[in-house]
Amino acid sequence: MTSREAAASSERLWEGRTSAPPAEDLTAFCDSLPYDRFLARHDVAGSRAHVAGLLHAGLLSPLEAEEIKAALDAVESELAVGAFEFRPSDEDIHTAVERRVTELAPGAGAKLHTARSRNDQVACDLRLWLKEALAEVAGALLGLAGALLEGARAAGDARLPAYTHLQRAQPVLLAHHLLAHCWALARDFERLRDAYRRTDVSPLGAGAAAGTSLGIDPDFTAAELGFAARFENSLDAVSDRDFVAEALFALTLVGVHLSRLGEEVVFWSSQEVGFLLLPDDYATGSSMLPQKKNPDVAELVRARSGRLIGNLSGLLATLKGLPLSYNRDLQEDKEPLFDSVKQVSGGLRAMTGLMKGAAFDIERMRSAADDPYLAATDLAEFLTERGVPFREAHRRVATLVRRSLEKGSFADLVCSELGPDAVKLLEPGASIQRRSSPGGGGAVPVGRQLERFEARLASDLAKLEEFGRRS
Ligand code: ARG
Repeated sequence: MTSREAAASSERLWEGRTSAPPAEDLTAFCDSLPYDRFLARHDVAGSRAHVAGLLHAGLLSPLEAEEIKAALDAVESELAVGAFEFRPSDEDIHTAVERRVTELAPGAGAKLHTARSRNDQVACDLRLWLKEALAEVAGALLGLAGALLEGARAAGDARLPAYTHLQRAQPVLLAHHLLAHCWALARDFERLRDAYRRTDVSPLGAGAAAGTSLGIDPDFTAAELGFAARFENSLDAVSDRDFVAEALFALTLVGVHLSRLGEEVVFWSSQEVGFLLLPDDYATGSSMLPQKKNPDVAELVRARSGRLIGNLSGLLATLKGLPLSYNRDLQEDKEPLFDSVKQVSGGLRAMTGLMKGAAFDIERMRSAADDPYLAATDLAEFLTERGVPFREAHRRVATLVRRSLEKGSFADLVCSELGPDAVKLLEPGASIQRRSSPGGGGAVPVGRQLERFEARLASDLAKLEEFGRRS
């Protein structure tokens, strides 16, 4: 490189406008390179499409386009093997890539930014990145749903109490409980798909804010990049971060669901409950207490949801009140998004491994589920079937529970007050057999539910294909 080229390559893209170089301590405050370098691959892909667009519009000669494409190939290889040298003047990944392209192809490279701004470029890169990230998260999400479904299939007739207010309510099949988490994940999958759909729109060609007088074709670059559509309005294209907010919400809700599953693992694996035995490779020990086997993985999954909520509310606060169109505030979209994707992917994988390896103490669950008081609702329903208004039936059974807690066996009281047919309802497993309403936790509806979720998961797995990976 000549000294003139070296001097030019340490300039910012906009230094012609200012008479002094940027203050040194502002660089660290303003530059986004430390985190937007994760967009490098997408920046190169976006630039390739832009070059094709410039060629298509006659703004580059075929030779110039070839030179820039060769330089982009070289930049891509340097980035891939870690040989790309960033410069202190590289404010962001867009500057870095363009600077290096211009070093490698000085004449043609200087035309790369024709009819383009970093404003449409960064939105394009981020959308390309997010499309891939959503595909990955959606895949991991279905992985966890598959592991829970496997657990539900393997659970057979294992049963445990359903809780409300963390008080024992009614017995349900373990499969029913595991499937409850599966349906939440299925809704998450829909939300991720939906977020993907609105991410899949190309902003390239919007320029800085208002488009360009040069005859480019945004539909062409959108198709080159595999986007489903192009922007409708250039002001909106460079200022819209709804797709980031939506993705963050969908991810946050996945995280909240993970935290609820995590909490159940913590609860179930406590000695007080003892329903779940943590797999050794997903448990931790204590530095001081030799007997401890701790559910740190589930606790961290539970805790990370707090961070996700922070990332979402932080971005919404950044967007609130921003005037059209691009404002540098929008640079603050990346760190929360990158972090939430990383945390959710990690959490999904951790919980998948944990649930695959977890063993259930079926006996302990069963003895909790077979607590005769958990059949109280069945007794009230038994009376209802015999014509007693439910409110009256509820009062009669509640009185029996209270009397038996004061003294005496529940079964004896039920027998003497409600007759021998009623006592049969207190037999282990009787309640589950009788619970037949659709979507309920008894054996018959859970069998159907298993089939329905299997079909749902198969169809969602097929839909993963729709998360195109063409960038
Ligand atoms: N680093 C910037 C961002 O992330 C890129 C766009 C810069 N645009 C500008 N007009 N300064 O948003």
